[in-house]
Amino acid sequence: MVDTLTIRRPDDWHLHFRDGDIMRGVVPYTARQFARAIVMPNLTPPVTSAAMAREYRERIRAAVPQGVSFEPLMTCYLTDTTDADDLARGAAEGVFTAAKMYPANATTNSASGVTDVEGIYPVFERMEAEDIVLCIHGEVVDADIDVFDREAEFIDRYLAGIAQTFPNLRIVFEHITTSDAVEFVKAGSEKIAATITPQHLHINRNAMLVGGIQPHNYCLPVAKRESHRLALRAAATSADPAIARKFFLGTDSAPHLRGDKESECGCAGIFGAPYALESYVTVFDEEEALDRFEAFASLNGPTFYKLPVNEETVTLERVAMPVPAELPLVGETIVPWHGGQMLGWRFVG
Ligand code: NCD
Ligand code: ZN
Repeated sequence: MVDTLTIRRPDDWHLHFRDGDIMRGVVPYTARQFARAIVMPNLTPPVTSAAMAREYRERIRAAVPQGVSFEPLMTCYLTDTTDADDLARGAAEGVFTAAKMYPANATTNSASGVTDVEGIYPVFERMEAEDIVLCIHGEVVDADIDVFDREAEFIDRYLAGIAQTFPNLRIVFEHITTSDAVEFVKAGSEKIAATITPQHLHINRNAMLVGGIQPHNYCLPVAKRESHRLALRAAATSADPAIARKFFLGTDSAPHLRGDKESECGCAGIFGAPYALESYVTVFDEEEALDRFEAFASLNGPTFYKLPVNEETVTLERVAMPVPAELPLVGETIVPWHGGQMLGWRFVG
């Protein structure tokens, strides 16, 4: 039995750092495990210009602990009025690594998102020409669509059309939660990939709704039924490299203070950063796919994003590790993913 696993240092291809004191409190958790991270732009106000992204990047860099190497990769929040010239310039200057499309009101801080997907086709056209990656929060949020059907509906209504209209646009279907999304990505060209969170590999919707409402298992897109979870696990750990390389690690770590989760209208988001690698490796271990973990965590993402893989390595060891029920943050507390549980792996460094 494998008791330690050493892999190239991974990257997190989707997360939320927030800003200010919360950002300064959460950045060290990610910088400890990951070399780089794609930082989501859903601040208030959102990061919509290269100038804003440059400043935000500096604030994040200043929060990285001394002696730790970590590089934030910035994204541009797309709106109905995105300036394609600014986006292209920001990408050319190395400020933007990708642009993120949130359908308006799909999730936390997405009120300025895109209201008319075809309305920003000119921006997609420019992104395709400049080879800028498009990250998509794929959910239709119309009131007549059941919350559990939002992702599948998005594929039919929008994503298939975007992929067809812009065959050379690199698209990351973010935090996928359904077998529909897995099948779409598998059937797509090499320009289509997806990130998968630890929570969607570990839990189905029962974990949110059985035995009382479980706010710390609530995120968007919401966890789906068990068959979908199994499809995600099969995709992430696939023995077929042609399938596996389309899926990579993106925690969607989304910090909300404990009080904001345990509330009459609890926020969506799971704080996955502190024990992210332990969480993912547990899944690969359970699936007897430890030999495929490095590709998912450290190789597939850089290949898709056309970035170099990291040269350093990290080691995980098989040992019982209790996860704290809560962590201090800005004088309050936050519940980490797996809070209060026992994991079977520990990040050594
Ligand atoms: C994210 C957040 O809190 O910013 N929440 C979440 O549940 N994942 C937004 C998002 O990625 O949808
Ligand atoms: Zn997210």
